[in-house]
Amino acid sequence: MRAVMCRDLGEPESLLVEQIDTPFCSPNQVRVHIWASGLNYVDALFVQGKYQIRPQLPFIPGSEIAGEITELGEQVQGFSVGDRVFASIGLGGFADEVVLSPSQIIPIPDRLSFAQAATMTQSYATAWYSLTQRTLVHPEEWVVVLGAAGGVGLAMIDVARAHGAKVIAVASTSEKLRLCIERGAHGVIDSSTEDVKTRIRELAEGRADVVVDPVGGPLAEQALRALGDNGRYLVIGFASGVIPLLPANQILLRNRQVIGVDWGAWAMANPAENAALLGEVIAAVEDGSITPVEPRSYPLAEASTALRDLLERRITGKACLSS
Ligand SMILES: NC(=O)c1ccc[n+]([C@@H]2O[C@H](COP(=O)([O-])OP(=O)(O)OC[C@H]3O[C@@H](n4cnc5c(N)ncnc54)[C@H](OP(=O)(O)O)[C@@H]3O)[C@@H](O)[C@H]2O)c1
Repeated sequence: MRAVMCRDLGEPESLLVEQIDTPFCSPNQVRVHIWASGLNYVDALFVQGKYQIRPQLPFIPGSEIAGEITELGEQVQGFSVGDRVFASIGLGGFADEVVLSPSQIIPIPDRLSFAQAATMTQSYATAWYSLTQRTLVHPEEWVVVLGAAGGVGLAMIDVARAHGAKVIAVASTSEKLRLCIERGAHGVIDSSTEDVKTRIRELAEGRADVVVDPVGGPLAEQALRALGDNGRYLVIGFASGVIPLLPANQILLRNRQVIGVDWGAWAMANPAENAALLGEVIAAVEDGSITPVEPRSYPLAEASTALRDLLERRITGKACLSS
């Protein structure tokens, strides 16, 4: 089978597409032919050696997949060959096949394509965890989403809207802002041309309730300063590469809160609670209250290009590798 191999930490261009032996499927495992692998910012961080966890070399990146079961171990029950399934697997997704335990796989809701399912878990679980557990978003609240046309950002728009909130989307190009409007944002701000703090205050009539920040950098303080009374600022990530230093007086003023979100660590430490959270996400997909965007697709062999496009902000929305 083909696999995208990371033999040395570095830029995505150092990834190699190799032919390797298919993994052995033991009696309590299933073999999945991967039709789509979600592309996430964290995959680029793994390859660059910039993530807080460094996998042992060599490794196959790719943290979430969707595909079809092609082989069942003899002890496996509850699944059949041909079932459409998706999984969050940490590593190993940029390949033609993967062998998994039944506890890792989830049936794909009928409404979703392989590509949508492969790009859903990280972004939607993060959004759901952020807006229902780290804070609780209420109907009619104003939620400001930075990096809104990225993977996490689009999921935040969808989940915030599903909870009745009004969304202000911040992104850097008109194409990205168009997508945010299509996805239901009530107001948009072009971070490349507009004063983000002033525009948030105008659009939210001075009472922005929640800021969701997967970007960091200079936008962070502007967004914090735009929060209204009891506003909550969710620290999600630093796609800009710059970890912001937030002034404490701006947290004190108006009784604001800054809240950290680390879905991955929480999910690993609390598998049962995470399974319940994913159940809520899937139920919301099935009843139509949320719908992951159809991602842009790259061939598996173009993993380096896809990761480079992600790092250079050239992807509007989500992206996946397809075989
Ligand atoms: N805390 C958690 O539990 C958790 C979970 C999942 C992901 N994350 C983190 O969240 C962050 C975003 O992930 P994502 O999957 O949404 O990434 P993404 O799809 O690449 O989106 C990131 C967005 O950040 C903006 N950005 C600004 N400066 C950038 C730069 N220098 N390079 C790249 N993007 C830049 C871009 O929007 P504009 O061009 O519009 O500015 C881009 O759309 C990552 O740091 C990721 O590790 C955290």
